[in-house]
Amino acid sequence: MENVGRGEQVEHEISECIAAGDWKKVIDLGQALPFNQRVKYLWLWPLQKDLERIRESLVRFGITEVLSIGCGTGLLEWLITASTGIVVAGVEKDEQWWRSKYATRTYIPMLFAEAMTNVDNECQGQQTGQAMMFCYFNHGAAFREYVKNFSGHYVIIAGPMEGRGVHTDPLPFGAKFPADQEWTVVHSIPVGSENLNQFVIYQRR
Ligand SMILES: C[S@@+](CC[C@H](N)C(=O)[O-])C[C@H]1O[C@@H](n2cnc3c(N)ncnc32)[C@H](O)[C@@H]1O
Repeated sequence: MENVGRGEQVEHEISECIAAGDWKKVIDLGQALPFNQRVKYLWLWPLQKDLERIRESLVRFGITEVLSIGCGTGLLEWLITASTGIVVAGVEKDEQWWRSKYATRTYIPMLFAEAMTNVDNECQGQQTGQAMMFCYFNHGAAFREYVKNFSGHYVIIAGPMEGRGVHTDPLPFGAKFPADQEWTVVHSIPVGSENLNQFVIYQRR
């Protein structure tokens, strides 16, 4: 019971910081939690310096808009937008569940896969400035289907490095893209305090 109470308190504190636009304090709240508690709110917790490096790299590649597939609560997406000014929209599946009273709190407006006809239509700006992001995504076939229907030039995969006892599909390095497409890693940024996660940018060839 004590843990449930503490969990709700953390959620409440995160929501308050978000309402105040205080992204630095959200990061501090995450860092103050033990690893096994922290990942309940977000798998990949960036530090302030990581968000600065993410901002620099998005600017460097001319990425002005990011569509994050499988965004979960949308906390990472909120942190990126609040700290960089770059819009990150989130996509989830199973709208009924996310709208239900059992769902965890969400921090950004979400789009739902069931209602999306075309990934490109969901990005408001020019296609050249778009990136599609997958953070701790866990469905390789769905990843390839999303990429197949995307005509932008950048895909970001954020997640654990191979061999660290945590599995995602795709993993950030060596992702399996649709067979008829060629994508190369153009930049990678270590993220978080755990020496576990990477934020990897792929460019279409
Ligand atoms: C492990 S969670 C990661 C959540 C969040 N990105 C994070 O880093 O904390 C994977 C998420 O992908 C979502 N997901 C799985 N298949 C999906 C699909 N086909 N379209 C959109 N979201 C999907 C799941 O509902 C889940 O919320």
